[in-house]
Amino acid sequence: MNYRHAFHAGNHADVFKHLVLSRIFALLSRKEAPFAYLDSHAGVGLYDLAGDQASRTGEWLQGIARLWQAEQMPAAANDYLNAIRALNPDGQLRYYPGSPELARQLSRPQDRLHLNEKHPEDGRLLKDNMAGDRRVAVHLGEGWLVPRALLPTPEKRVVLLIDPPFEQADELARCVQALNEAHARVRQTMVVIWYPIKDERQLKRFYQDLARSNAPKLLRAELLVHPADDASRLNGSGLVISNPPWGLEDELRELLPWLAKSLGQSQGGWRVDWLVEER
Ligand SMILES: C[S@@+](CC[C@H](N)C(=O)[O-])C[C@H]1O[C@@H](n2cnc3c(N)ncnc32)[C@H](O)[C@@H]1O
Repeated sequence: MNYRHAFHAGNHADVFKHLVLSRIFALLSRKEAPFAYLDSHAGVGLYDLAGDQASRTGEWLQGIARLWQAEQMPAAANDYLNAIRALNPDGQLRYYPGSPELARQLSRPQDRLHLNEKHPEDGRLLKDNMAGDRRVAVHLGEGWLVPRALLPTPEKRVVLLIDPPFEQADELARCVQALNEAHARVRQTMVVIWYPIKDERQLKRFYQDLARSNAPKLLRAELLVHPADDASRLNGSGLVISNPPWGLEDELRELLPWLAKSLGQSQGGWRVDWLVEER
């Protein structure tokens, strides 16, 4: 396990993933009933952009730093940006929330968070960063076992984020396997899978596997910062979301053109479509 998310915190892929997550939490919060949030590959939860790892790559400068300076923002970006503002009360961008901290800020007293991180050191940091919040349970186990270990939850509504490091060749296939396991246990689970856009051939296979999965509905959203013609770099990233909340598709159609314009490097692009329509 070599991957450390601190090198990439706040980059274009994080901004895209976390902005979409923030909308999922907002749409779920329209109903009083509690939801559970499961994060199978959680990272440390909170990042110091001035720290050694983030400074060495400076990836966040082409990500969250661009939005931090922007003058005009769509209202739908407010929850996400307010979560970052809360960590940086003096207005200087230094701390960036990972998915655990974002979920902590955008969930309610009745909601529950289960955060899993396998890397022992990152797991310890995650525990420290989440300490004191009784709604949060931190697990230091194998992320791929999360659907089996934690579903069903007492809460009827569940969001499961699957966000592995993609260090190994089989991780796209394992995402589909975890998606199938989650739906086999609780059909209405909302599963969110993040994936890198690099190798188009591998992605084609991934899309086919997803289309053959047991997900009742599957929305695909992608953000490109370069044309997808160079498999050696991160051209952009995607999210597939099973059982997305009502309204998310329309919101993404409004947000993604703005995001592509704000974060595009050699060329911004986006798409939103259904990999699986309701079945
Ligand atoms: C992309 S990062 C997660 C970022 C986080 N979800 C966020 O948005 O802030 C992937 C994380 O998965 C962890 N990891 C790698 N292999 C794992 C496994 N098999 N089970 C659980 N966690 C794993 C890595 O240590 C890393 O912290």
